[in-house]
Amino acid sequence: MTTLATNVLGIDFENPFILASAPPTAKIESLDKAFSLGWGGAVLKTITPDDLEMIDASPRYASWKMGNRVCGFENIELLSHLTVQQWIDGIAFLRKKHPTKVQIASIMAPVFKEEWQKLVKALNNAAIDAFELNFSCPHGMPEKDIGMAIGTSAEASAMITEWVKEAAEKPVFVKLSPNVSNIAEIAKAVEMAGADGLAAINTVQSLMGVDLDTFEPQPNVNGQSTFGGYSGIAIKPIGLRCVAQLRQNSKLPILGIGGISSWRDAAEYMCVGADVVQVCTEVMINGYGVIETMKKGLFNYLSSKGFNSPADLKNKAIDKLSAHRSLNKQKQVYPQIDRELCGKCGKCATICAESEHSALSLTASGIVLNPKACVGCSLCSHLCPKSAIKMVNAD
Ligand SMILES: Cc1cc2nc3c(=O)[nH]c(=O)nc-3n(C[C@H](O)[C@H](O)[C@H](O)COP(=O)(O)O)c2cc1C
Repeated sequence: MTTLATNVLGIDFENPFILASAPPTAKIESLDKAFSLGWGGAVLKTITPDDLEMIDASPRYASWKMGNRVCGFENIELLSHLTVQQWIDGIAFLRKKHPTKVQIASIMAPVFKEEWQKLVKALNNAAIDAFELNFSCPHGMPEKDIGMAIGTSAEASAMITEWVKEAAEKPVFVKLSPNVSNIAEIAKAVEMAGADGLAAINTVQSLMGVDLDTFEPQPNVNGQSTFGGYSGIAIKPIGLRCVAQLRQNSKLPILGIGGISSWRDAAEYMCVGADVVQVCTEVMINGYGVIETMKKGLFNYLSSKGFNSPADLKNKAIDKLSAHRSLNKQKQVYPQIDRELCGKCGKCATICAESEHSALSLTASGIVLNPKACVGCSLCSHLCPKSAIKMVNAD
């Protein structure tokens, strides 16, 4: 019998879809609704000490769209505006009403041992299942040496993980930044310092654009802007790469995050090492209700493959990732043109010629391939406006 249930570090998840720390997890009423609609749990909007000033800008979002579809989303939002006590009360309310839902407290504090340990100790008594250390927010607030300022330093990440582990009575996940040259190095440092699990990725540092009339960068906050955090479907390849690199270098459980908008994305994250996944931007764009198709889709996929649970999917693709030098370069693929679909526009031939190879030409009878000139790069198959080109093996 297939189930969506899974267990990570002794924590039971009724399904592997949880909300990432962000606006959809910033209010107790919203979390109540999300749990009722079927989310397996949530990482609460990052909780900070009450005296840490938190003034948000307006506007705080920008987006990159293809038609009506938001592909990339940028935010310069800071952290939770609720007090620690409001969170403790809210967590208790949610635990009572939704006893099976996983609640993970995301936390961040200035770089002082007392500050981190005070926050952890206050939350130890709350009904949370685990902590997630936010070492990775690109804009909140590196100038105060927190957020990504911690996560880009292996030394600072390890030091704070040790402080938290000393005080925490629940498992500790560390949420890593993709804005580093070697994410595995930071992961190794926090693993050595006692982290129980990893979460990746937080947003990718970005600058969404510049208004060419006023020269104001976006989002425009009274004529000025700042570098923000990029999320949504555009960052999925970066998140997948980071999670795969973490899995290649660590056996710790991983909460996979970044551009997950469907059950397929979630399944791919599991194939490269994620135990469960977190979703943020897709929910901000389409609402909590997306959980229904995500759960159904993953369940049907797992049962069609004969898998018992998400755990059976874990790491399935990891052994198929290797260094470029180890790839088998003896075999080549060639474009196969579907004559029915081909619009004879000649785009593939033009681009092939202008991008080095001149293997395709447009003739009166349609596109013709010169196999001797073709290197099997696959560019033509990606740009055909009619999707009429498929890459196939020679035999
Ligand atoms: C508006 C917004 C606010 C966010 N706030 C937090 C936060 O408080 N703490 C945190 O750890 N991550 C925060 N994130 C990052 C998300 O948890 C997540 O790591 C990131 O958006 C990538 O996932 P996605 O592509 O599904 O959105 C925020 C993201 C967005 C878009």
